[in-house]
Amino acid sequence: MFRRYFKKICFIWTILFVQILIGLVLFLFYKHRGTERIIARSSFSNSLNRTQIPFETSSTVHPFTVSFPEAAQPTVKRKLVLLLAYKRSGSSFLGEMFNNNPAAFYLFEPLFPFTRQCDVLQVERVDALNELFKCNFKVIPSVYRTAFEVTGHTDFWSNCSKNNICFYERHANLLQNYNSISKTPVKCYKRGGCETPLNTTILSNICSRSSLVVYKVLRICDLYTLEAILDNFEKKQDVELKVIHLFRDPRAIIASKLHLKEDETTLENIDQSARRLCQQMLNNINFVNHFWKAKSRRRTSYLPIFFEKMAEEPFATAEKMYDFIGEPLPQSVQSWLNFSVTQKTSSGPFLTFGRDAHSVINNWRKDISLLNIKVIQDQCDEVMNKLAYLKVTFQKELHDDINIILS
Ligand SMILES: *[C@@H]1O[C@H](CO)[C@@H](O)[C@H](O)[C@H]1NC(C)=O
Ligand SMILES: *[C@@H]1O[C@H](CO)[C@@H](O)[C@H](O)[C@H]1NC(C)=O
Ligand SMILES: *[C@@H]1O[C@H](CO)[C@@H](O)[C@H](O)[C@H]1NC(C)=O
Ligand SMILES: *[C@@H]1O[C@H](CO)[C@@H](O)[C@H](O)[C@H]1NC(C)=O
Repeated sequence: MFRRYFKKICFIWTILFVQILIGLVLFLFYKHRGTERIIARSSFSNSLNRTQIPFETSSTVHPFTVSFPEAAQPTVKRKLVLLLAYKRSGSSFLGEMFNNNPAAFYLFEPLFPFTRQCDVLQVERVDALNELFKCNFKVIPSVYRTAFEVTGHTDFWSNCSKNNICFYERHANLLQNYNSISKTPVKCYKRGGCETPLNTTILSNICSRSSLVVYKVLRICDLYTLEAILDNFEKKQDVELKVIHLFRDPRAIIASKLHLKEDETTLENIDQSARRLCQQMLNNINFVNHFWKAKSRRRTSYLPIFFEKMAEEPFATAEKMYDFIGEPLPQSVQSWLNFSVTQKTSSGPFLTFGRDAHSVINNWRKDISLLNIKVIQDQCDEVMNKLAYLKVTFQKELHDDINIILS
């Protein structure tokens, strides 16, 4: 009788023990998975269904390999985030996820005066970025002036050389912050220009006191030009540099550029435009694999973000990015996202994200002819393979009503 009872107890305890063990193993596994960021190179495009949409879906793995070391160290006081993007890749939306965070010091294109031409002032723009990382705004007036002297730009936006910051409409938080500190508050207009130049001492102070500094930059064309800066960050104890890199289907980027009057891309030069874009993307992918894969990095880390995924799942993308930088997703960003992408009553530039993702992702299919799509695909073959964007071959594939696969 007693033995049977004892056996039963033993049996129950064994079951319990095994369950705890399994629980522990699962916990450790997911904890580990949550902290590493691996984008596995795969050849999955072979196994993809051609009628599925030709880009990453939640069930597919993204392709170029980077293994990301755990960077969090107790000594870190500041985080610098560099949002790198290509023109027409949805970077304004991405940037707003930080502009709407009152705790972040955010600038929308601080390298504006350096122009999009990659071979102009290449060293100078990297130097300028380095000063910005140090919150050294005192050099900005002369840096901007020098750049405009070389490029000769005199358009509306170029007035920022007199104001020490460009693009006022995306800096509401910063200007509010500035005016709460400055003895002489400055009025800035929505479409650019301020009554008086912003005081660079105050800008430097706001920046240095911020534990999260975020710059959205389109004008660093080649990531390898940042190698020395990145190496230097690896030696620093009190600061981390996080690079978030936004990609988009090159066919969609080119289609979007064709609509822009001021962009030089036309149907006549579409092949050159695609070649330039995809060569740049390819160089950057290669650099990422070389820099972050070659050695274990502690003070710099890298996260690729895909436009299509961001459009489909803006909330999850915001969470992913804040998780990557090791900060909680602020309530203000959640509310902004909630309002701009989900509320039926709202209006604004970002409605296509979330609510109308399908069309923003697929518009290029209607916008360019199959012939031109093939021209882009030829120039972008390697990049599209690496980024796992599927190519189209037949007219029919352009018109198929393709459903987005959501998780
Ligand atoms: C491809 O996807 C479509 C739509 O999702 C489905 O109807 C079809 O059966 C799939 N074909 C293959 C070979 O998996
Ligand atoms: C630049 O700013 C000045 C005022 O500081 C203004 O008069 C001028 O029209 C602006 N230039 C352009 C091209 O908008
Ligand atoms: C800028 O701000 C600093 C600190 O408030 C002040 O000492 C300095 O005089 C200001 N400079 C200008 C040109 O107003
Ligand atoms: C999003 O909006 C809905 C409807 O207005 C509201 O109920 C919800 O609390 C909002 N969520 C956030 C995070 O702001």
